[in-house]
Amino acid sequence: MITITVNGEKRQVDVPDDMPLLWVLRDELNMTGTKFGCGIAQCGACTVHVDGAPARACQTPVGSLGADAKITTIEGVQGKAAKAVQAAWQKLDVVQCGYCQSGQIMSAVALLTDNQNPSDDDIDAAMDGNVCRCATYIRIRAAIKDAAQTMRA
Ligand code: FES
Ligand code: FES
Repeated sequence: MITITVNGEKRQVDVPDDMPLLWVLRDELNMTGTKFGCGIAQCGACTVHVDGAPARACQTPVGSLGADAKITTIEGVQGKAAKAVQAAWQKLDVVQCGYCQSGQIMSAVALLTDNQNPSDDDIDAAMDGNVCRCATYIRIRAAIKDAAQTMRA
């Protein structure tokens, strides 16, 4: 049995140590907001936070996380940056098909939590690993800037 902490709650799962966190979230805990895209750390659809930093759940063996590591998923992300991102995403109508967006949002929230005045280069660096097949990149960048402005106000 492995114990992990997801969105502030301790959860016990009976899975092998090397099972990727993504499968644990989706198949064991029924938290399907975190998406499977590529499975090889290339697309960012599975981005969650581990202790506040973005992590690829598809390439994170659940056994590598201690019981106290704070895993945050799209279902549980909260705080000033999350609120600002949610409002900006709605205001700028960012989403197209939506598939990549929980990963995009988790990366954006991690960026804005650390940096409330990101440059274009900062945004590019933070969002580089998040692929969007619908090419919403221009709206994502605008929404991150809008959210940053909200946070600074
Ligand atoms: S599914 Fe994890 S990076 Fe693509
Ligand atoms: S909104 Fe469709 S893949 Fe990004």
